[in-house]
Amino acid sequence: MMAVHRKKTMRTNEMKTLSILTTLPALIGCAACGVVGIAQTGANAAARVKEHPVPRIVVKDGRYALMVDNAPYLMLGAQSNNSSDWPGTLDKVWPAIGYLHANTLETPIYWEQFEPEPGRFDYSQVDLILTQAREHKAHLVLLWFGTWKNGSQHYMPEWMKLKPEIYTHVMNKEGELVDSPSPFATAALDADKRAFTAFMKHLKEVDGERTVLMVQVENETGTWGAERDYRPEAEKLFAGPVPAEVLKAMGKTAGGASWRDAFGVEANVNFHAWAVARYVGEIAAAGKAVYPLPLYVNAALRDPFKGAPGTYEAGGPTDNVLPIWKVEAPAIDVLAPDIYLPETASYLKVLELYHRADNALFVPETLGSKSAARFMFSALGLQAIGYSPFGLDYTRTLRPQEGEKGGEVRSKDAFLDPTAENYKLIGPMMRDVARLNFEGKLQATAEVEGEATQTLHFGDWDAVVSYGAGRGGTAKGNAEPLGRALVLRLKENQFLVTGYFCRVDFRPAGNEAQRKAGQIVNGSGQIPSAQIEGKWVHRQFLKVEEGTYENGAFKFGRILNGDQTDWGVGLGAEPVVVRVSVGTY
Ligand code: DGJ
Repeated sequence: MMAVHRKKTMRTNEMKTLSILTTLPALIGCAACGVVGIAQTGANAAARVKEHPVPRIVVKDGRYALMVDNAPYLMLGAQSNNSSDWPGTLDKVWPAIGYLHANTLETPIYWEQFEPEPGRFDYSQVDLILTQAREHKAHLVLLWFGTWKNGSQHYMPEWMKLKPEIYTHVMNKEGELVDSPSPFATAALDADKRAFTAFMKHLKEVDGERTVLMVQVENETGTWGAERDYRPEAEKLFAGPVPAEVLKAMGKTAGGASWRDAFGVEANVNFHAWAVARYVGEIAAAGKAVYPLPLYVNAALRDPFKGAPGTYEAGGPTDNVLPIWKVEAPAIDVLAPDIYLPETASYLKVLELYHRADNALFVPETLGSKSAARFMFSALGLQAIGYSPFGLDYTRTLRPQEGEKGGEVRSKDAFLDPTAENYKLIGPMMRDVARLNFEGKLQATAEVEGEATQTLHFGDWDAVVSYGAGRGGTAKGNAEPLGRALVLRLKENQFLVTGYFCRVDFRPAGNEAQRKAGQIVNGSGQIPSAQIEGKWVHRQFLKVEEGTYENGAFKFGRILNGDQTDWGVGLGAEPVVVRVSVGTY
């Protein structure tokens, strides 16, 4: 009886949607692409699909790119606060996106709003955010707040919350229910799959413009407060053998009789990761079958240097279980770290751990602070396809106290400024950055405490980045480690240099052994030189041009020389782009 009623409701609802789609063509204005209707039908749809193919993630020679309109694209993102995607709050979101010069807004789709009654889907919020994104010439990453949100089931619709016996929770070792959905709750899995598929199907129908670049499936999956589910059906599986594909993925040749045999102290968390990944993998596969957008899952991290079971949210794609997620959720394109670790070593370690041959690096949530802003450059140096600090809108509900620091009242935009500085600089050159990164011609780095000089290797040339270097003097590091540099190889002998609070110079490449043997010199007023095949080779600048990026192309401003280049190319607090042609003598 119930099932029949649900079907009827769905059909009526679908018909309503269809009639809206066919009677309101050409209603949505797209400043970037001309005015088009929300429905994509017939020849028109085919043409648009040709013009705007579905975004996809590609890999070539071990390097990844997010292809948007057939070319590599770099998401300069900002994630809204959790409760910002509502008609009454979006006007506090878009001004922040504009101020930031972000090209992509990450914002949630709430299951509780999307499916207010079983089987009745409300597409209004999806349509609204699409319309507004197009008006603001922004792309979107939509976050499916479904079964999991930060390890809990708080975004399940009310009608599900009212039936905890059906949409069950994780049970801990003591037999108590935890504030986390059970990955063994098949009714919840079915419901999520159905809702997510309806969402993806609708996206496909209304987004021929490809405003949406990627979809996040769930949010920070896993469980706080229990290493795994201990309900009877889980116990039975836990006592049995580990599936062969998991053993293989985790590099085990023998598994023994049970998960405990195979993984010892890691057995609980590996088991939970397996269960959650299977659940999410099924939802992702169902959604992808109707609309093959790139999908990703974000991870609440464990400490990359410690991270013993019990100290983090288990079950999600933490670094120790990435192979399990890869093998159990193949429809997920990217496993992505939410990086809230302020320490440099931990932050950089996480970037390394998620930059894998089988995984593109994408940072969907991170700190937007002054000191963390430089890590965007570290991510770019590891081929990131996107980067997105969290909570960057004017609702400021999460941390209202941030307007004030140490009694000093900061401007209302202060929390946006560090990210805005990066995006103002990189935004206009985004396509070149993404393309050259994909081609392996980009190197970028951020200042690390205690490391006043870093070297970026470009084959026959090294770019030497120094921090806190005075005129002619040795680099000491900046008082606050805020430095960052990005170097693109444009031609054989030409590089594009940008960044903040550092100096960049070029040196004919040598190797570590030569450096140790004193066959490489740099700094202290000397011309960067290396002894190559017994002969000293010195760098000379053929031309150093300062300019700006406009409409995706370098625009010449002036030639730098004399004090401005005698000790390398200095980059301070201003957004500057410098094109450097080098030679040797
Ligand atoms: C990580 C979550 O994924 C976000 O939705 C948000 O809750 C932030 N934490 C808050 O810092």
